[in-house]
Amino acid sequence: MYFTNENAMLIDAGISLVYEMYENKQLNDQQFYYCLCSVLEAADKVSNTTGMYLAYLKKFTTSALKPIVFKGFDLTEPVANNEVYLGDANALLKEASGDILYLDPPYTATQYSNAYHLLNTMAKNEQPQVYGITGRPEGRNISGWSSKRNVEAEFRTLIESANFEFLIMSYSNESIMPVELIRDVMGSFGKYTVRKMEHQRFKSKAGNENSVGGNTVTEYLHVLHKVG
Ligand SMILES: C[S@@+](CC[C@H](N)C(=O)[O-])C[C@H]1O[C@@H](n2cnc3c(N)ncnc32)[C@H](O)[C@@H]1O
Repeated sequence: MYFTNENAMLIDAGISLVYEMYENKQLNDQQFYYCLCSVLEAADKVSNTTGMYLAYLKKFTTSALKPIVFKGFDLTEPVANNEVYLGDANALLKEASGDILYLDPPYTATQYSNAYHLLNTMAKNEQPQVYGITGRPEGRNISGWSSKRNVEAEFRTLIESANFEFLIMSYSNESIMPVELIRDVMGSFGKYTVRKMEHQRFKSKAGNENSVGGNTVTEYLHVLHKVG
């Protein structure tokens, strides 16, 4: 029940077609990613979830019952010659260096690979073994950044090894690492400052997150000017 059967079949057909055309060299890299993105965005609009794919809803929502529509979208010109890497942050940092490192790590114990598994499965055109009522796939990446036990070690390694002059990290007051720990770790590698602002809490499609903890969260920007 993540999708109606009709929409699920169209998503399946869309992904299969995009991959088939790419493999047959009818689409170049850019066209492939454009078409794949169109299918993923369309699928997400008709998903029968609260926005994350940890579970599906027991009854189909009005938006989930709508027939899926695949759309094009405007592309913006790139502002720089950028490169994109995919991988574990601490592993990538062994190769990368620069002036400013901006970090937006997971805040909570929710694993992204659980929360968005279906989008990953579609994007990669996988047919994994699934288990449990909610059909989670086997073999997902588990991030240390979403683990209360492992996050501090991941964070210390990153701050210590990052070969950048400025390190800037977004984090909220409802995150698994306390502000004091971040201050102590970053502060021991140079000049540390912090900025904060109140921000509207994330509202899921069902709006249920608003029922606890008020309407806003405190968002921090932790800044380190690294010395040495
Ligand atoms: C708060 S989100 C960042 C969202 C991003 N700023 C954006 O606008 O799309 C955290 C991201 O970190 C990724 N992540 C989790 N653990 C990671 C790791 N060890 N290395 C690299 N990325 C990781 C998650 O998959 C997720 O995409």
